[in-house]
Amino acid sequence: MYTFFKFFHLVAAIVWLGGMSFMLLALRPSLPILEAPPQRLKLLVTVLRRFFAAVWAAIGVLLLSGAYMYGHADAQVAPLGWHLMSGIGVLMFLIFGHLYFSPWRRLQQAVAAADWPAAAGRAKAIAQWVSVNFALGWLAVAAITFLA
Ligand code: HEM
Repeated sequence: MYTFFKFFHLVAAIVWLGGMSFMLLALRPSLPILEAPPQRLKLLVTVLRRFFAAVWAAIGVLLLSGAYMYGHADAQVAPLGWHLMSGIGVLMFLIFGHLYFSPWRRLQQAVAAADWPAAAGRAKAIAQWVSVNFALGWLAVAAITFLA
């Protein structure tokens, strides 16, 4: 049962971290190929809507499987890497919640209202928050690899 939860924990982490890699390293630098900013922002909204749905699912799986694995060990003897991963994981969930309910909502409203300067500002804020989570995600993986 433990291995089963660990497998899905890994799947969810790969989906989230892989999606952030794609967004930051491939999608965002490629958007200028579309000459009109409205086209870029509309594409971004369409792509992010799908990706963010996958992130919510990944968060649910990470929380459930992480709590199960964590609950299986005696908190006193759990390696430092486990504690760090749990703390960083919760921080990542909070950051995603913020970016989802603030800049992401406002980006959709701005695109619907064809307010392109406001939309560009929200898109930038989303990219910044995703960059923070991207760094935190790898930090969590490093913690569990080197300190467990
Ligand atoms: C509250 C949040 C989280 C908790 C409680 C948690 C807990 C754990 C625990 C206890 C393990 C150790 C399993 C073992 O070595 O047997 C683990 C492994 C792991 N976790 Fe998390 N985790 C959380 C969030 C995350 C996040 C946000 C990511 C990445 C986006 C992540 C990625 C991983 C990876 C890659 C492993 C290594 C699995 C392996 O050893 O093969 N976790 N986690």
